[in-house]
Amino acid sequence: MKIFFLILAILSFSPARASDTQQVMDEQPDAYCHWQVTDYAIVEPLCGLVGKAQRGREIVSDSSRGNCLACHEFPIPDIEAYGNIGPPLTGIASRLPTTMIRLRVVDTRKINPMSIMPGFYRDPLLINRPGKGYRGRTFLTAQQVEDVIAYLATLK
Ligand code: HEC
Repeated sequence: MKIFFLILAILSFSPARASDTQQVMDEQPDAYCHWQVTDYAIVEPLCGLVGKAQRGREIVSDSSRGNCLACHEFPIPDIEAYGNIGPPLTGIASRLPTTMIRLRVVDTRKINPMSIMPGFYRDPLLINRPGKGYRGRTFLTAQQVEDVIAYLATLK
């Protein structure tokens, strides 16, 4: 089961899938907003945006966007299976403040350099040899990251 989800996770971040690539190429990349780490946290919302929890909930379970549930369990009913490579995120907001959750989602390697969790909002210029569709872009947009964070902040 673990291996299955790992493969699922890897596949979903491989830009080689033709349908996604086309969609990605058709959109213009948003301007990248720089962020700053203070005490294992990112205090300021990305680009000063306000997230919407309802949209975030959709993004975490969307295999072409966040696909977080390939590796994490969430308190969302009617999902057939979750991955368990990462810790369950039920109750995450009582374990971590929002500012620390933000760094986890944006670039968890700032905390654990060996992490297999993708950095969803790393500076595109730092990404080593990105796949075609991902050149100059982040895995999630700043708005999507803030939506995901707003959703995680409700998981107390
Ligand atoms: C490829 C697997 C994988 C994917 C996909 C993934 N994560 Fe993770 N995540 C992990 C692992 C493994 C950890 C444990 C810490 C580490 O290794 O960095 C983790 C840790 C976390 C933590 C900290 C949990 C804690 O209890 O401290 C948060 C929050 C988190 N992930 C959120 C997300 C969100 C939101 C998404 C989707 C946008 C996501 N993850 C996608 C593997 C993944």
